Amino acid sequence: MQKITKAVFPVAGFGSRFLPATKASPKEMLPIVDKPLIQYATEEAIAAGITDLIFVTGRSKRAIEDHFDKAYELENELELRGKTELLKMARSVVPDNVSCIYIRQQEALGLGHAVLCARHVVGNEPFAVILADDLIRAEPAALKQMMDVYEHYNSSVLAVQNVPRSQIKQYGVVKGREWEKGILKLDGIVEKPHPDKAPSTLGVVGRYILTPRIFEHLEGIQAGSGGEIQLTDAIARLLAKEQVLAYEFQGKRFDCGSKLGYLEATVEFALEHPELKADFQNYLKTLKYPE
Ligand code: UTP
Repeated sequence: MQKITKAVFPVAGFGSRFLPATKASPKEMLPIVDKPLIQYATEEAIAAGITDLIFVTGRSKRAIEDHFDKAYELENELELRGKTELLKMARSVVPDNVSCIYIRQQEALGLGHAVLCARHVVGNEPFAVILADDLIRAEPAALKQMMDVYEHYNSSVLAVQNVPRSQIKQYGVVKGREWEKGILKLDGIVEKPHPDKAPSTLGVVGRYILTPRIFEHLEGIQAGSGGEIQLTDAIARLLAKEQVLAYEFQGKRFDCGSKLGYLEATVEFALEHPELKADFQNYLKTLKYPE
């Protein structure tokens, strides 16, 4: 079994649900309290043993490259002012043993296409895919939990969670048999099904461990749901050839691609923030909610 060291972060989408905030800056740089979404995602990957961070970027995404780059001026300034804690924080965004690689997706043709753009960097190895707008609070980190499943079964693993049937058409939805508690062996997957036709209420969230065979299937697929090249459609082909598992991770996921999910994450993370939690809790108690 090959050890997984590479994670792909597709960050080339338009983020249209967050316009105008995302007109000139990436959705993945939106902060939850004081840290951008993309850094939560890279920290999760690093906690799971990833050492190569592969970003698939697009237009208006330069802020992401700057964020993971060395910030000489800022570091100088913090050093001169003796702000050692902040300096440590700025320097620790990317640990020394971790490298960042950037690939451009020329056109936002869909998540499947974004993953395919990383093919030549990933090579013939299993790899992880993380969507930064799905923020998951979990201990151990969600991707680490999935790595343990991968290491046990040596096959692709998708993170899933139970979602209300009314929301099912926002998800890729899996069909399978329970293998052991919380782990399903898949025999089908469908993108954004009608609630009456959904094969289950288990929706895929933005964490995947995939074998490199996925690239062959991505090469062959046409635009699907929403006119986009869907990763789900390639996974449907993959699971016809080899075992693919769905894993119900332990933890809470926030859909930060939606405004409501983003606000929920902001409130919950603020209520846990060491510097803020007491004051923020007191502030919330003073609020009077409009009818
Ligand atoms: P979304 O479906 O959330 O799309 O993409 P989006 O463009 O980011 O946001 P909305 O729906 O317009 O508000 C899921 C993930 O796939 C990436 C996005 O950056 C996001 O992380 N993606 C999507 C790409 O990298 N390329 C694409 O062509 C499409």
